[in-house]
Amino acid sequence: MSAVSDDSLAREGGAPADWPGKLGGRFVVFDGPDGSGKSTQFRRLVGLAEAAGVTVCEVREPGGTHIGEEIRKVLLDAQHEEEAPIDLRCEMLLFMASRAQLIAQRVRPALARGELVLADRFISSTLAYQGAGGGLPVEEIIAVGKVALQECWPDLVVVFDVDAATARARMNPLLRGQEFDTDQDRMESKGDAFHRKVRQGYLDQATNDPGHYLVVDARGEEDEVYGRMCAGLAERVKQFTDKG
Ligand code: TMP
Repeated sequence: MSAVSDDSLAREGGAPADWPGKLGGRFVVFDGPDGSGKSTQFRRLVGLAEAAGVTVCEVREPGGTHIGEEIRKVLLDAQHEEEAPIDLRCEMLLFMASRAQLIAQRVRPALARGELVLADRFISSTLAYQGAGGGLPVEEIIAVGKVALQECWPDLVVVFDVDAATARARMNPLLRGQEFDTDQDRMESKGDAFHRKVRQGYLDQATNDPGHYLVVDARGEEDEVYGRMCAGLAERVKQFTDKG
């Protein structure tokens, strides 16, 4: 963390300083390839919003509920691959099942209370990983998504974009100061070609629906990324407010 305060960085680029206080009642997703650094920026936005008086409902996917955390264990368990690889549609449906529970149990009630719902991954991950990466047709994912989400689509998906080399370096256990990477889950252990497709999957989503996506260049130092994220969010929050 730098000596410069989060608040002063949040104003970078002449962005109006009051935008974090206007996040209440919105549903914002942070997403991106493994190693994009999104979770670090997630924590910083939580701090900024709370300092502005906004109650934040933090959720992560897959998981975020008791049922969802059980589903998460099944999905990320590398053991399955050794026995029999999980069927792609089974995988997608499990992610969606976790999501349906999350929306019913946490997202909808929090939005109704006027909180900011900040999600670490959402359906944008399914479109990138099972869709672009795995090859499942987008139409199938969207059709199941409509059933699971019941109209509860995010106001904004912030995509932290990194090239494969940067992402790999950030996930590299030696660079992270660990001798062995015992943490690598089933998704993280897929190859470079898969992760390149995933990255492109996020960029394509943003190109096809620019009103609901904000792409942040996630290369470089944490504070630089934070400054870019805040400048982008300030602009989008202004648009929310203008639309009412
Ligand atoms: P994370 O919690 O560390 O971000 O890891 C979750 C992993 O699951 C990550 O590799 C992305 C993957 N994932 C999917 O493949 N599809 C999904 O719908 C979601 C939510 C995550």
